[in-house]
Amino acid sequence: MTGGIACYKIAELTRLLTKAGATVQIVMTESATQFITPVTMQALSGRPVYTSQWDARVPNNMAHIDLSREADAIVIAPASTDFLAKLAHGFADDLLSTLCVARDCPLLVVPAMNRQMWQNPATQRNVAQLRADGIETLGPDSGPQACGEIGDGRMLEPEAVYEAIVSFFAPKVLAGRKLLITAGPTFEPLDPVRGITNRSSGKMGFALARAAQQAGAEVHLVAGPVALQTPWGVYREDVQTAQQMYEAVMRAATDADVFIGVAAVADWRVDHVAEHKIKKTAEHRMPTFTFVENPDILASVAALPNPPYCVGFAAESGDLDVHGEEKRARKKVPLLIGNLGPLTFGQDDNEVVLFEAAGRTPLPRAAKQALAQTLVAEIARRLPDQSIIS
Ligand code: CTP
Repeated sequence: MTGGIACYKIAELTRLLTKAGATVQIVMTESATQFITPVTMQALSGRPVYTSQWDARVPNNMAHIDLSREADAIVIAPASTDFLAKLAHGFADDLLSTLCVARDCPLLVVPAMNRQMWQNPATQRNVAQLRADGIETLGPDSGPQACGEIGDGRMLEPEAVYEAIVSFFAPKVLAGRKLLITAGPTFEPLDPVRGITNRSSGKMGFALARAAQQAGAEVHLVAGPVALQTPWGVYREDVQTAQQMYEAVMRAATDADVFIGVAAVADWRVDHVAEHKIKKTAEHRMPTFTFVENPDILASVAALPNPPYCVGFAAESGDLDVHGEEKRARKKVPLLIGNLGPLTFGQDDNEVVLFEAAGRTPLPRAAKQALAQTLVAEIARRLPDQSIIS
């Protein structure tokens, strides 16, 4: 940690990392201790915090060597303007800069500074040099800053830094692949204030988008109305209706290597959306609606002349084996992932069965994010051209 108001975000980042099972060793510069105390960081990381290169607690008194040898990666967060400059030039005049120079592990920096400091040609030169040296830069974000100004330089939020770190370590089984994913419910309006939707939370589709991005894919996520944060590094396009989802998907499908339809797309919409709110007048006490069928997005993508590898999802309320295989064959997709659905809507875990021409493969119940990683690996294994998969 180096000095900056964004130091408070590292408390949360430390909590996220330790909760996920990482060992977090905090090293702070003198300036960082002005913003948050080593006591707080020690309590959150569960390990002593080091601030001085003369700290005698390290057995051989070589903190700069020992601390970096124990690490799988060093993450400088927040990374101040001054520290980026020091890194770019290889300075080693305090514990943190010295252990960065002495490291034999990857280094990631998370810049946090005022927008003018970020845009300063010297900073940009230093960042370009760090990138050329193989140092990963995460962010910065854009938006309101602690100083009251608005622009580039904000530190990424702790969740985004956490996801970027996980992503950094994930095996890149989808490197070079373009994935198009739908997620969430659709919303079919009846009038300006009412509509028909379903209980899909979008969690499974978002988890897959996140896992695919972490596996090195370029991910385009077309999302129905959901209350979920966009996974780090994923391009998200929001839609409301099945028709809008269909159009967004068809625009992007020809460019995709893989299409995964996770969205719970409404099968029908009303043939005429009322222009004004439908009132409970005498003649409208019991309104009737006529429905027309929505396009089948998955089947339409699968029917393209040169389709991406298509994966369907099906949430069934019974007879999964019969409906799963029947649906896969009807939509003409190579892989369909089925579950006993309505029970898992909104839940954080899921139990699925893979249906393909060769047969069915049940996967054990798992948290949606862990399951998404398994599914990404399963999909990657099935892609036709294995040559560019690392
Ligand atoms: N799907 C789609 N477009 C639709 C309906 C479904 O792309 N209009 C996709 C879903 O995203 C999912 C798969 O098709 O990947 C299966 O969805 P499901 O609703 O189970 O299929 P339906 O064809 O609607 O079958 P059912 O009769 O069971 O509703």
